[in-house]
Amino acid sequence: MASISLIGFMGSGKSSVGKELSKLLPGMEFIDLDSYIEAMTGKSIPEIFEKQGEAAFRAMELEALENIFLTNELTGEDCILSLGGGTVTTEACRRMIRRNTTCFYLKASVDTLVHNLETWPGDRPMLKGGKPLRARVEELMAVRGPIYAKTAHHIIDVDSNDYTAAATEILGNLALGFSV
Ligand code: S3P
Repeated sequence: MASISLIGFMGSGKSSVGKELSKLLPGMEFIDLDSYIEAMTGKSIPEIFEKQGEAAFRAMELEALENIFLTNELTGEDCILSLGGGTVTTEACRRMIRRNTTCFYLKASVDTLVHNLETWPGDRPMLKGGKPLRARVEELMAVRGPIYAKTAHHIIDVDSNDYTAAATEILGNLALGFSV
């Protein structure tokens, strides 16, 4: 099996679905890209944004993906990779993800995203700046929605799916892929 990647907007449930998926696929290591970058740099994501800016963070995402896929190649092991909401805005990241993983877009409506981000706000530098949350989500999704859709091999609707159902649907897509 190839590695699996999960993409989608902040609050779409990438990490939660990834953890559910790793319960169903216990042989595969689960990697959350943000946590990987925090371990790699010894800094938190908000700290990186604050001290070094977004462009530096995007370069770190690329470097982290290069490390992960190189390690996978050396060990021959695949992983379940939960990406950051903006990782695929970098073209080189997009290419690497499509080449090295079966990529799933967790597609959520603006209503679902706003609801999730209000319920679990977290510390998200891309949502700071004073704009109302819904307006900011709409603004970013207008740019990112088409990018998520063109990067992914499969789209999973998470508006009406809980995390377990989404993980099960991903497994179903993988099984279909094998039989073709
Ligand atoms: C970002 C999403 C975050 C994190 C960083 C930037 C973005 O990850 O990578 O704050 O640009 O959408 P999550 O999608 O896991 O919140």
